[in-house]
Amino acid sequence: MTLPTHLLNTHLPLGDQRTGRFYGKDILSVSQFSRDDLEYIFGVAEAMRTMVAHIGTFDLLKGKILANLFYEPSTRTSSSFLAAMERLGGSVIPINEVRYSSVTKGESLTDTVRTLECYADVIVLRHPETGSAAIAANAARKPIINAGDGIGEHPTQALLDLFTIREELGSIDGLTVTMLGDLKYGRTVHSLAKLLALYRVKVNYVSPEILRMPPELVAQLRKRGLPQTEHTTLDAVLPETDVLYVTRVQKERFENMEEYESVKGSYIITAETMKRAKPNFVLMHPLPRVGEISPEVDDDPRAAYFRQMEYGLYVRMALLAMVLGKA
Ligand code: NCD
Repeated sequence: MTLPTHLLNTHLPLGDQRTGRFYGKDILSVSQFSRDDLEYIFGVAEAMRTMVAHIGTFDLLKGKILANLFYEPSTRTSSSFLAAMERLGGSVIPINEVRYSSVTKGESLTDTVRTLECYADVIVLRHPETGSAAIAANAARKPIINAGDGIGEHPTQALLDLFTIREELGSIDGLTVTMLGDLKYGRTVHSLAKLLALYRVKVNYVSPEILRMPPELVAQLRKRGLPQTEHTTLDAVLPETDVLYVTRVQKERFENMEEYESVKGSYIITAETMKRAKPNFVLMHPLPRVGEISPEVDDDPRAAYFRQMEYGLYVRMALLAMVLGKA
């Protein structure tokens, strides 16, 4: 189906935009975005939301091919990129299990990426090493989208997280955001904290001592003027919190399993926690959860983690359309 004219006439920023600011660009780190870029992306994501609600699937990226290259497990990121591409009329080469690809024969990341760009127009890459997306982007001519590089960054997650906050609470300036859990190894919080530094917000970090936010990142964001505080318990900051962003302890990053055992289950959000939170706060989690949020909380209207996944579809549709010159 092509774009219906009654929707095209509502000023949706969709169509041929090969001069657009993201056309042909890689998406490697949130550091590449200005506040203005974010407003642009969110505008396109809103347009995608409208289009999906009205017609479900449309032809904006007809004939385009995405290679989904995942060297680490993924449910949401890989399937939402796949759904995003298909809802835009494009198609996907899914390599979710590199074990069955030539990677097992010893092929390097750069050779694999050079191979896939012969067949695809854009590559989404998840890899266990920090900096791998940048290495792939250096080797490739086609756009690379970083879907998580080890403990480094997860820029598309941070964009959808920010979009979620904006959709749920109306604006971002003036909020207090509390990040809870594994702040050392969690790439989602590294990217989200950097993005929040573009806004007038206060950020609280709550983690076990050994899982604190990397001090270099805290120092870098302090220089940029982001007010940040660090804690080991949630109690003191919960009453002022507008957004509580809970994360999983990243078991796969620990060298010492005893250390993991000592911190897993440090924080559990329950109905009791929700009682002490603001009436209009939002509870977020990039998922998967492994016990950090008790399922009894799911029906609380302030629990936004399932809606957060849906917002991810619209943001990823926007990013694909933008790097392929259609938004
Ligand atoms: C996150 C990740 O892969 O970093 N998952 C996701 O993409 N939604 C968070 C996690 O694995 O804990």
